[in-house]
Amino acid sequence: MSGNKLRAAILIISETASQDLSTDKCGPILQDVFRDDGGDQWEVAETKIVPDSILDIQSAIKQWSDGEDALNLIVTSGGTGFAVKDQTPEAVSPLIEKHAPGLVHGMLAASLAVTPFALMSRPIAGVRNKTLILTLPGSPKGAKENLQSVLKLLPHACVQAAGADSRAIHVGGVKKLEEDAGVPSGAASVIGSKTEGHAGPKAHTKPEDRPQSNDPSAGPTRRHRTSPYPMLSVDEAVKLIEQHTPPPQTILAPVNESLIGHILAADVHAAESVPAFRASIVDGYAIKHPQSGKFEKGTYPVALVSHAQAGEVQPLQDGQIARITTGAPLPPGATAVVMVEDTVLVAKTADRAEEKDVEILTDAVRPGENVREVGSDVQAGDVILRKGEGITAHGGELGLLASVGTAEVLVYRRPVVGVLSTGDEIVPHDRPGALRLGEVRDTNRPTLLTAARNAGFRAVDLGIASDKPGTLETTLRTALSTVDLIITTGGPTLERSLGGTIHFGRVSMKPGKPTTFATVPFKDPGTGRRETRVVFSLPGNPASAVVTFHLFVLPSLHYAAGVRPVGLPRVMVTLEAEVRLDAVRPEYHRVVVVARGDGRLYARSTGMQRSSRIGSFRGANGLLCLPAGEGTLGKGKKVEALLMGQVVGEV
Ligand SMILES: *[C@@H]1O[C@H](CO)[C@@H](O)[C@H](O)[C@H]1NC(C)=O
Ligand SMILES: *[C@@H]1O[C@H](CO)[C@@H](O)[C@H](O)[C@H]1NC(C)=O
Repeated sequence: MSGNKLRAAILIISETASQDLSTDKCGPILQDVFRDDGGDQWEVAETKIVPDSILDIQSAIKQWSDGEDALNLIVTSGGTGFAVKDQTPEAVSPLIEKHAPGLVHGMLAASLAVTPFALMSRPIAGVRNKTLILTLPGSPKGAKENLQSVLKLLPHACVQAAGADSRAIHVGGVKKLEEDAGVPSGAASVIGSKTEGHAGPKAHTKPEDRPQSNDPSAGPTRRHRTSPYPMLSVDEAVKLIEQHTPPPQTILAPVNESLIGHILAADVHAAESVPAFRASIVDGYAIKHPQSGKFEKGTYPVALVSHAQAGEVQPLQDGQIARITTGAPLPPGATAVVMVEDTVLVAKTADRAEEKDVEILTDAVRPGENVREVGSDVQAGDVILRKGEGITAHGGELGLLASVGTAEVLVYRRPVVGVLSTGDEIVPHDRPGALRLGEVRDTNRPTLLTAARNAGFRAVDLGIASDKPGTLETTLRTALSTVDLIITTGGPTLERSLGGTIHFGRVSMKPGKPTTFATVPFKDPGTGRRETRVVFSLPGNPASAVVTFHLFVLPSLHYAAGVRPVGLPRVMVTLEAEVRLDAVRPEYHRVVVVARGDGRLYARSTGMQRSSRIGSFRGANGLLCLPAGEGTLGKGKKVEALLMGQVVGEV
């Protein structure tokens, strides 16, 4: 509280007013209610206008209710109806820690006294941290009446929410509270002067006493009627994945092809120098500069031959030369190599099989010329690869490791993925015969197995589990001992049966909203070590499953494997055709990313984007990242895209 006043915020939720502030009628009217009916107890500290966007609404409310300087009251106006765009209750509800159905009933009853259409509003009230939040209707008249109907009661609730000692407040009993609030006894007259004794609809149970469960065994009638999970942005979801994916484990791995795809967990030092001996870089004759200095041209006896093969080489004496091939070790004592072009054969041996004497035509050869010194490529002890670098199938890292004789390296272990389909209606994709009514072929499992393997991870097929709670639990428990990360699709949430924690259950994106990310404790029966396994429950639609695999599962696998940066690479692409935006959710639109002769990348739509349409993936190598918004993005606009596969070339 600043001074003695309670601090309130007004959040106007209106598409129109958010574009043209002058069209807002509600804000000024609510200001007046606080001033005229607030008993001089209120200061309106903040006002803001946002469109009907869950994220905008949530971000304003969080800004005002989280942290040291939290406000006492937030009233919102708008978005509480039944229109498609109305989502204020959906935005506010997940933020509320303690619901206040009494205030909701009070507001409804007050409006009901005016019009039966009051029942067409879906208000929410409750406390987040120390802040009371109320959602008012969007019409100026309705908002005013609703706020007036409860305003006098609010100081008491706000003071309690802010952490005052409730016993001190209750000294004097309800009578004193009523006097302090300036309201007469009798609920009806408080709520609205015209309610004439009706106390409004009244629930006979408290929310905490109502059976609500996500446990599939609890049966459909006892499950949550709406998603209990707050709606997160994709970025918030990926942050939670980073926080909760178990950190990478290091292992010592042999240097061979099985190393491909691993990330080094420590710098690698060269065990040996390359080259390990002084070697000739030309075909020619090794010579020895005399101690005195200059090498004289003239005819020299060929004392020995050095080929590029292992073995002892005799030392070279003063006045001798040795024939040498490229890459062969210099004889001890040799100082340089004269290339064969600068020489003439003078005499052969008696059997005519070997050279006996050779004339060196130049005296300009300096010591060290045409010689690759020991360690001139890599010195023993040099760092040849750094921690965090990956061993690729194409980058030559394996060759580098092999060249310095590295036998083992410390790398991050690659997590193993298990893919499980759930549902009694799911049949294997290759089951012969026609489908019976309700049966669905399992497209997700083969698709996700392929996606995981294509990303370089070992993926285990866990089959199809029945919906029966016991079956699913047993399958999952068995799987936890063999895989690090389980992907299920279409199934119920799992935290209860496995004792895990759900970190998010809804993401504001299209497709893919009902994506669930959970971690589950697991005790390794072999080592007794307590570990954490990751479980993703992806939407049952094939296209949603693929999008959410790339947006969420892949980053988790990357965190666990030490791969940085995580997830798909991002590129800027130019739209080949106009695309329509989703008003509420950011959309990941499947496209073909094409590289054209002008050096730019273009995005071509793969057609209809309905989330059940796996066909929209055919040929798709990218996901356009479209922001939420009104209208369309025109042809030629630049948009960010995530690359799932190789860019297609097109001239
Ligand atoms: C509640 O407010 C305190 C500070 O007053 C803050 O530290 C905390 O993070 C807030 N909690 C939530 C859930 O917002
Ligand atoms: C790599 O070496 C390990 C240990 O010697 C062996 O088990 C594995 O099969 C090898 N992998 C390949 C691809 O050569």
